Formats: sequence, structure tokens, C-alpha cells
Amino acid sequence: MKIEAARAALGHVEDGMRLGIGTGSTAEEFVRLLAERVAGGLRIVGVPTSERTAKLCRELGVPLSTLDETPELDLTVDGADEIDAALSLIKGGGGALLREKIVAAASARMIVIADDSKVVETLGRFPLPIEVNRFGLRATEIAIERAASSLGLSGPVTLRMTNGEAFVTDGGHCILDASFGRIPDARALSDALHAIPGVVEHGLFLGLADVAVIAGSKGIRSLVAAR
Ligand code: A5P
Repeated sequence: MKIEAARAALGHVEDGMRLGIGTGSTAEEFVRLLAERVAGGLRIVGVPTSERTAKLCRELGVPLSTLDETPELDLTVDGADEIDAALSLIKGGGGALLREKIVAAASARMIVIADDSKVVETLGRFPLPIEVNRFGLRATEIAIERAASSLGLSGPVTLRMTNGEAFVTDGGHCILDASFGRIPDARALSDALHAIPGVVEHGLFLGLADVAVIAGSKGIRSLVAAR
């Protein structure tokens, strides 16, 4: 299903495009298909959203640029952890949310690719990744819990670990995964998190995705943002 969603998104890619290239297993399927088209003569330049994606692109011969060299992009194709009907997203399960959000915001359009297990009525089943500065981690955690509580949200906030150590993002930060459950007002939570100095960015992507290409057992469907 991930491959089918990636294949459908590839139909939106045109010769000469400047592409933001997402992170995660679905985005990697997109990179593989894109690489085949590049080998066949498609001319694009890609800005990867993580070191992991950059490595795969290099291995497969997808031409890369940086956001400094190419600060305005035509299209970003990326996966998501959750998608609601308004195309609000939770992202960051792969730890790349900061670069993903910067790249998506620099793109004229964003297409999300996913299988239908990612579609939810209300965001929040997937723990919300929050990228935080390592300095003052505990103080930031307490501030996040207070901000959530003021919005009627609560639940465990846990430091993401890998191989017994704190997970470190490409930007050198940590990730707190916040299991608040249903998030009825994602905009209010986004604003409250942005007001905390130790929060670098969070995984709520609001008003960024234009189209979601969803693959299910009955085929592909597209959700389009009402804007
Ligand atoms: C990476 O940080 C995430 O935002 C991914 O886009 C998201 O976790 C989706 O990953 P999968 O395609 O592997 O489910």
C-alpha cells in the first residue's frame, strides 16, 4: 500500500521540479520510484528532510540540493503518522519533524502519502513527538505538561530512547513523545507548545498538506485540503 501511495504521488512530479523529499518507510518507497524515473531521464532536484533520506537518495542517484541553495520548492512528498479529514497531521515518528516542517513550509505544495491505517477522525492516537532542546529538559517537560493541562489534556510525556540512550535528531535535539490522547483543538495545542522556550518544534502539521494520497485495500483515494 505504501508503494501504491508513493506511485500515485509520483504522478504529480513534473520535469524540472524542485522537490522536498520526506522521511520514513513510505517516503523511502517514493525515493525508490523517483530514482527509477531519474534514471529514465526525469530532471528534478531534491531537498531531503533527513540525513537518512539524503543517504538513500545518494545511493540511488537522486540529485540533491540543500534548502540554502534551493530555498523555494515546488512540491514536497512526505509520509505521516496521522491524518485527519482537514489534512492536519501528526509527524515525527521517524524523528525528522523539524526538517520536515521547514521543508514543507518552503514548498508551494505538500502531498502526504500513507496507507489508510494513518487516517483518523481526531488526531492524538499516535503520541505527539515534540522536539526539545537538551538544556533544561525536565523544566521543558513540566512546561509541556502544564500547557497541555490548561487545554484539558494529560498523559505520559516520555523521552524517546534508542539503544539505551536519548534519541538525538539531525538537529542535535531530543524528542519527547506526548501521549495526550484525542487532541480536539490542535491549533491551540500548537500555539501553547510554541510558547515554551525549550520546545524547538512539534509534530502537529497544520495547514501544510494540500493533498493526501491514501492507499487502502480497495485502491487509492485522494483527500484534498479545503483552502
Ligand atoms: C518522520 O519523522 C515521520 O514524520 C514520518 O513521515 C512518519 O513517521 C511516517 O513514517 P512511515 O511512512 O514510516 O509510517
